[in-house]
Amino acid sequence: MEENSIHESHKDYLEFMKGAVASFAPGRIEFLGNHLDYNGGTVLGTAINAGIYALALPMEGTDFRLFSESFEGADISGSIPSLEKQSGKHSWGNYCLGVLRVLLDKGLAPNHGFSLTLTTDLPMSAGLSSSAAVELATAQCLLQLANQQVSKKELVNICRQAENKWVGLPCGILDQGTSAFGEKDKVVRIDCAKEEYSTLSLPLHTSFWIFDTGIKHDLVDSQYGTRNQECMDALNIIQNSDPSIQFLAECPGPLLEETEMPGNLKKRARHVVEEQNRVSLFSDGLQKGTSPAELGSLLTASHKSSSVNFENSLPELDFLVDCLSSEEKIFGARLTGGGFGGAVLAWTANTFSEKEALSIAEEYQKKWGNSPNFHSFKPSKGAGPHDPLLKPGESKEI
Ligand code: GLA
Repeated sequence: MEENSIHESHKDYLEFMKGAVASFAPGRIEFLGNHLDYNGGTVLGTAINAGIYALALPMEGTDFRLFSESFEGADISGSIPSLEKQSGKHSWGNYCLGVLRVLLDKGLAPNHGFSLTLTTDLPMSAGLSSSAAVELATAQCLLQLANQQVSKKELVNICRQAENKWVGLPCGILDQGTSAFGEKDKVVRIDCAKEEYSTLSLPLHTSFWIFDTGIKHDLVDSQYGTRNQECMDALNIIQNSDPSIQFLAECPGPLLEETEMPGNLKKRARHVVEEQNRVSLFSDGLQKGTSPAELGSLLTASHKSSSVNFENSLPELDFLVDCLSSEEKIFGARLTGGGFGGAVLAWTANTFSEKEALSIAEEYQKKWGNSPNFHSFKPSKGAGPHDPLLKPGESKEI
């Protein structure tokens, strides 16, 4: 009797879930290549084993509903033909609605209403790009509902456009590209000028730790846009001497140094040009088997340049990088992501332990009065659709 009712309720459940689709998109760690993506440089990132899970159900009519207890202002609803930008506690919905807007413009959106539920195990505002993960998870659900398929490259562009046009952040493709192209134990290498994606193996026995200061870095309101504009201004000046240079990251170091421009622009451009060189050295070194200790010093040099040239660090982030760099088991440390808050990445030997992380957190607390959260992540596979009826942990992919 009991078994029968369970069977019946399972049947009802399957009926209710008819047409449901699901997806997962991981967060990412910006490994090296700070602010290079929108400057046509090459960046290195890794998708991580935490992210955004999305489940969508088709609805009759043209209304949508977005729901997520992971964000403040959990419930958002509206009508697809009259999409409106969200504000305040509903701002998270813009990452979903931006994607919907782009899909509508491209004729790739479902032609009916839907409800979309998101959940996450990603620390928020920690520089791990929960926003790109929301975009990718949303896009993959909506594309499935619409019975449409796009390449990973197009998926990345759809999500970048959502962010550029709807959210208003002039970002590049680092976040979306890493989340889409991630692979287990690999670093994703993106040539942002050519939009070419490849992966590189990381040395064995190394780990990633994230130390999150908890300082909010809402990039739309931070100086991200100002930095982007400064880079474009520097590029314009350089193009007066050499019009063949299309992107700031392409500019040879000596040409930059001999070009006259305001001091702040020179510093921003120096960060970009030197960072591009660090990424090349890192990628070549990885392929040649250079030791992690030697490679890691490029990460710490990147942070120094963020602090001095790009001025997207904070004293709290500098402090963490200094503490981390003096640890023997840490190869390199740097702020990860846009900066102006957020988190520091430490690339460590995999013998680096929670106890050691805790002692760094205590040092930070003594100085700043609060403790950073820390997490260790594994380079993991990229975004993809899932069968919504599978139990967690079951991994049959569609
Ligand atoms: C943010 C942006 C990315 C990239 C990084 C800085 O994460 O979303 O596109 O510009 O900052 O490298």
